[in-house]
Amino acid sequence: MATPILDHLAALAEPIRTRLLLVLEDRELTVSELCTVLQLPQSTVSRHLKALGDAGWVGSRAQATSRLYRMSQNGDPATHRLWALVRDQAATSSSAFQDHHRLQRVLADRRTKSQQFFESSAGEWDRLREELFGGHVHLSGLVALLDEAWVVGDLGCGTGSVSAALAPFVRRVIAVDDSGAMLAAARKRLRGYPNVGLKRGRLESLPIERGSLDAAALTLVLHHVPDPAQALREVSRVLRPGGRVLILDMLPHDRESYSQQMGHVWLGFSEAQMTNYVADAGFDHVRTHPLPAEPSAKGPALFVATAKRA
Ligand SMILES: C[S@@+](CC[C@H](N)C(=O)[O-])C[C@H]1O[C@@H](n2cnc3c(N)ncnc32)[C@H](O)[C@@H]1O
Repeated sequence: MATPILDHLAALAEPIRTRLLLVLEDRELTVSELCTVLQLPQSTVSRHLKALGDAGWVGSRAQATSRLYRMSQNGDPATHRLWALVRDQAATSSSAFQDHHRLQRVLADRRTKSQQFFESSAGEWDRLREELFGGHVHLSGLVALLDEAWVVGDLGCGTGSVSAALAPFVRRVIAVDDSGAMLAAARKRLRGYPNVGLKRGRLESLPIERGSLDAAALTLVLHHVPDPAQALREVSRVLRPGGRVLILDMLPHDRESYSQQMGHVWLGFSEAQMTNYVADAGFDHVRTHPLPAEPSAKGPALFVATAKRA
């Protein structure tokens, strides 16, 4: 139930509280920042913050070892009208003017602190970023650039790591693989994603309707396929016009043992060779890029190719 307006009048009937609300209207501040801005002792600021909190005017959240306060944004329309009226008057007072100036100083100090940190940590940032968040967090987040309405094929999905990365960001993932064991592992990994459909099938004759995919990813699979041109024509069939294909695979290498150990049919592909395959299969806007090597990677260098179905 909305707090009766008279209770709000009581909560606001104290100039320090309106000064607090003025500075907390658009930003979060700590108690010690508020003490600096209002030039009041901590006990006074805390007492008035408590009264404003109890009346629903101010909320707070913990951040590291401090607590940040901010004016609550979810009041009822009558509260908003009351505040608009009080603010119009309070904002013109000389104490509000002084508070505003000190607030700018406090905010500038904050920026200086963060600038100082980056000035001193430029050489350290990459290591710190990796230590705090891992080496690839930006890449997993970039998948959010995909259109949320898309249906995406993960073709030669293996154990489903690509499908798991895609599923939170697109409407549906259709994951296809030829191996029952791989699909079983993918099913286990993808249990929590109801928008992923797993299908057994071959790239050369995909169990997917014509024109039903917006995009298709073939990661580390094409080097297993004896006739990549035929597989890419099939990928073109299941994509809608303008749909996108992404191929991630190995650049030419000489690790012949891979044929024996892992059944590789192709010892990588050159960018020119891949461009021809993709263009011949009915794609345009073909782009290929070698990928930077991971420091810990032991395998051959990789490329990524993208294209649009004409
Ligand atoms: C090296 S794994 C890569 C899996 C996954 N794309 C990834 O990036 O982790 C290659 C997968 O392609 C599948 N595969 C190989 N040839 C295939 C074909 N002709 N049709 C469908 N799947 C195939 C294999 O069963 C295997 O799961």
